[in-house]
Parts: sequence; C-alpha cells; structure tokens
Amino acid sequence: MPAHVGCGVVVSQWFMGGQEMPSVIERILDLARWAPSGDNTQPWRFEIKDDRHVLVHGFDTREHCVYDLGGFGSQIAHGALLETLRIAATSYGRRTEVVRSEDAYETRPIYDVRFYQDAQIESDPLLPYIERRCTQRRPFRMHPLTPEEKKALEDSVGNAYTIQWIEGWGGRWAMSKLQFCSAWIRLTIPEAYEVHRSIIQWNARESEDRIPDAAVGLDPLTLKLMRWAMGSWQRVAFLNEYLAGHVLPRIELDLLPALRCAAHFALLRNDEPQGIDDAVDSGRALQRFWLTATQLGLQLQPEMTPLIFSRYVRLGVPFTRFEPATRRAREVAILLERLLAVPPGRAVFMGRVGHGHPPLARSTRHPLDKLLVPSSAE
Ligand SMILES: Cc1cc2nc3c(=O)[nH]c(=O)nc-3n(C[C@H](O)[C@H](O)[C@H](O)COP(=O)(O)O)c2cc1C
Repeated sequence: MPAHVGCGVVVSQWFMGGQEMPSVIERILDLARWAPSGDNTQPWRFEIKDDRHVLVHGFDTREHCVYDLGGFGSQIAHGALLETLRIAATSYGRRTEVVRSEDAYETRPIYDVRFYQDAQIESDPLLPYIERRCTQRRPFRMHPLTPEEKKALEDSVGNAYTIQWIEGWGGRWAMSKLQFCSAWIRLTIPEAYEVHRSIIQWNARESEDRIPDAAVGLDPLTLKLMRWAMGSWQRVAFLNEYLAGHVLPRIELDLLPALRCAAHFALLRNDEPQGIDDAVDSGRALQRFWLTATQLGLQLQPEMTPLIFSRYVRLGVPFTRFEPATRRAREVAILLERLLAVPPGRAVFMGRVGHGHPPLARSTRHPLDKLLVPSSAE
C-alpha cells in the first residue's frame, strides 16, 4: 500500500465489495485516523451514534509506556486527532463541537463530537495535508527557514502558544548534545527496551499499528545489529556494558539528525498545562503546526524524550530501576532548562524541521473498521 493512502482506499474497497457507500461521518473519521500518535499507538476508538455525532473513546498508555508520563503523550495525540476531525469535517461544510465527558476516567477519556452543517464553513487549507503529513527521522537539509516559513508556522499555533526556534550552529549543537544525552537513557533503561520491542515492526516499510524498522532512521547494518540485540534484554545490557552498544545508534538517530536540520522548535504554552484539557489543546496546536510544515514542504521529526525525562525529574516521579539513568535525567533537565527561554513546564512539544526528502517508509494506520466500536444504547 502506498504511503499516501487514506479515505480513497476505503471508498474504493466499499465500491468493489458492492457494499453501501461510506457515510459522510465515516469519510471524516477515515481521514482523521491519519492523525499522529506516539509510537503510532492510535489511542482512540470511534463509536458512531449517527451521521452527525460520534463518541471518541480515548485511552492512554501510561501503565506500560515510560514515554507516556501521566498520559500526557496520549492526550497530545487525542488533541491532534480532534483537530484533524475538525479540519476533515470542513470538507463537508461541517462545523465541529467537542465536549469531554466529565464522567469518564482520565485514563479513558470520552470526547463527545458533534458536527453541524454550517454555510459559513469553508474547506480548511490544511485539509490536503492530513494524509501527507508524516514523521521523517533521517537528516534534512540545513539551510535556514525563511522568515515567511517561520511566520506561517508561528501563526498556525494560535494566541495561546508561541514557538521558540533553536537554530544556527550553536543552537543545533546544543540540541544535539541534549538529544545525545537523552538517548543514552532511552537506550539503557529496561523500561524503554520493553516499549521499543513492542512498537518496532521488523523487516517492514509500513506498519498499521507500529513503526516499521525502515522508518526508524538507521542504516541497514546497524539495524541488523539492533534487531539481533533486541532479541533479549541480556544482549542489550551486555552490548551497552562492554561494547558501548548505545553509541552508534545515538550518533545516527540523535546527534547527526539534530545537527542536520534547518531548526529545532519548542511549542510553548502561555501558561503551564494543568490537566488533560490543556494537553489536548496543545495537541490541537501541534497538529496545525505539523500540517502547516507539510504544506510548506518541510519535513518534521518530534524530539520528545528530553521533555519527558525532564518532566519525571521536575515531578520527582521515579521512572527506572537503573539508577545511573536517574542521574542522567537530571543532566538532561539542566541542559533543557538552559536551552529554553521559559520554564520547561511550559514546553509541550519539541522537534526539528527542514527541507528534505519525504521518508521511503512510514507508519500507516488501522483500517477504519478496526477502529469502530459498536454503538451502545443511550
Ligand atoms: C505525542 C507524540 C510524541 C512523539 N514522539 C516522538 C519522538 O520522540 N520521536 C520520534 O521520532 N517520533 C515521535 N512521534 C511521532 C510518532 O512516532 C508518529 O507520529 C507515529 O509513529 C505515526 O507516524 P507518522 O507521523 O509518520 O504518521 C511522536 C508523536 C506524537 C503524537
């Protein structure tokens, strides 16, 4: 299946199967499922109540994923999904209203989404980029962003957010050091090993529910070595302890890509996020930023681990049984604080952008029918 597929595929399958054409709400959901989520977890299921009403059943992965502290990463993804739903609905002249149910557990939030036909609604200019937007983990070109590109990206996030650019040789070098340091934690703690093992699909260029190994950003030889090492935690621990097995992947996945880009960005909220609604709102801003980058022909890769490990330090929450990593997380927190212009708690997302080739491998998505849950009676 090509990388840029989406609602077209479902529509043609419907046709070929001689079944009924998908409803408008199915088409909207089919497009919206291309929203990004950490490790392609797609933490949402859809309950269609009628053609103008859907319940989005969210969930988070905090129980088993070290990168989802307090469910924050999943909540950002929920926001990205809701924003994508809004944009997708404009293609049918529909306005969207979302209310989060007060009764649901925070770990399993329910978003009540209603669509209204509205003559004022025009097709959103970001609509054509929903399926094209994707994560590129390989190096980009280094020529700087133009003032126009920066302005378009800054404007996309709305008044409650600003963008801090980290650029020039000095900025990119500082970010490379931060990423290199943070990656040491990622590659040495058993808690992250468990996550990586479950989210990489080996020998794949596409993956419906994970990240294909070809999209991770490693050269074929290092990838082979990594695949072998990841067969057991003992192998990883041995390679790390005696052969500095973490160094090569950190250079290839973190240090070099952080140097080879136009700029890094931090998405800053005007105030520190206080709970799920603020996280969801941040996810909405992120998705507008990412789609705008795609519209400008820019590649983007999130760089979230420094934020995540610093947050563990700030909140005093233990995250690993490997004590040296706790100390390293304190270093990451200090480096991040030096880099950011505001208190780190206000940074909700970080990444790098630049011109470059789109990836040859990418995560795809669960087909819509796998994401639908039966509608329960009112
Ligand atoms: C909240 C969040 C955090 C993410 N963190 C990272 C990250 O630290 N590094 C990375 O390479 N990709 C990261 N991603 C990108 C996801 O892995 C990616 O969106 C997902 O696998 C789907 O792939 P696609 O973006 O190519 O459609 C993140 C995405 C989200 C929404």
